[in-house]
Amino acid sequence: MRLSLTDRCDLACVYCRPHRHDGYLEERLDVDAWKTMVHGLVRAGIRRVRLTGGEPLLHPALVEVVRFLGTLGLEDVALTTNATRLAALARPLRGAGLRRVNISLDTLSPDRFREMTRGGRLDVVLRGVEAAVEAGFDEIKLNAVVVRGANDDELEDLARWSWARGIVPRFLEVMAVGEGAHLQDRVVTTSEMRARLVHLVRGGEPEPELDRGPARYLVAREDPRKKIGFISGTSDTYCKGCDRLRVAADGTLRPCLATNDGLSAASVARGGDVEAVARATFDAWRSKPDGEVWKGCTEDTAAGVSMRGIGG
Ligand code: 5AD
Repeated sequence: MRLSLTDRCDLACVYCRPHRHDGYLEERLDVDAWKTMVHGLVRAGIRRVRLTGGEPLLHPALVEVVRFLGTLGLEDVALTTNATRLAALARPLRGAGLRRVNISLDTLSPDRFREMTRGGRLDVVLRGVEAAVEAGFDEIKLNAVVVRGANDDELEDLARWSWARGIVPRFLEVMAVGEGAHLQDRVVTTSEMRARLVHLVRGGEPEPELDRGPARYLVAREDPRKKIGFISGTSDTYCKGCDRLRVAADGTLRPCLATNDGLSAASVARGGDVEAVARATFDAWRSKPDGEVWKGCTEDTAAGVSMRGIGG
């Protein structure tokens, strides 16, 4: 389950948002409603939770929500962040029980970073990454969205930089979700990425990890403990076997990233009705598209989805 705690973000990545002023949701759940929501999700059988956004570190109650999640006996509590606020929050989050962090970072060049995020500061993010490494999370991954002509010459640098810090690098194809739909002429497929990294990783087909989403991994030639992940949302839509659900910041349960279809559990969450949230979760689960025929982010509906509004 991915919980989009807030749709606010302090960056405006070119594949995600059209500009910095594209408008935010008007209705958002408060912390008590989130707690009811999470209780209901666990009642329905959810075992693994990832906090997303927007940028979840902008939510004032993030640490409190993480601590609460830690009381529910979940198998996993993880977070996806752009790391702009991680320097201050890495330690408190670790202390609150957060186990794993995915950091979105597409380039190691300050100028490119400013361009790709429309104004972001790389030095601030790098301090955030450093704080995360020092905080001692079980696992840190780096997510880089590869855009031809923008950062596709940095795959090796990003991989080596990550490995040197005990971070698992992962490269994502630009998906035709929201603004990504306008960048489809700049997609670098995972097979092209692999060809470019062939001297770093062993051959064979990349392998998924059990219960760990759509990424597939290859192992480093130099050290079997190091690996590189690939997420092929465009060249292979991997809907078959998808077991994800999402909750948007306004309390909408979303069965699939690639459509705006969903059902609102906001009023039952606000009313404290855990059982009704659990029932809504089952309904959302049953309305997941048929993974045998559905083509995920290559479906026409995907272009109308706000990545920022649903947390990837
Ligand atoms: N295609 C691929 N990945 C994307 N992300 C955001 N928008 C897109 C897109 N159009 C990534 C972010 C973050 C994760 C949640 O999704 O960079 O790492």
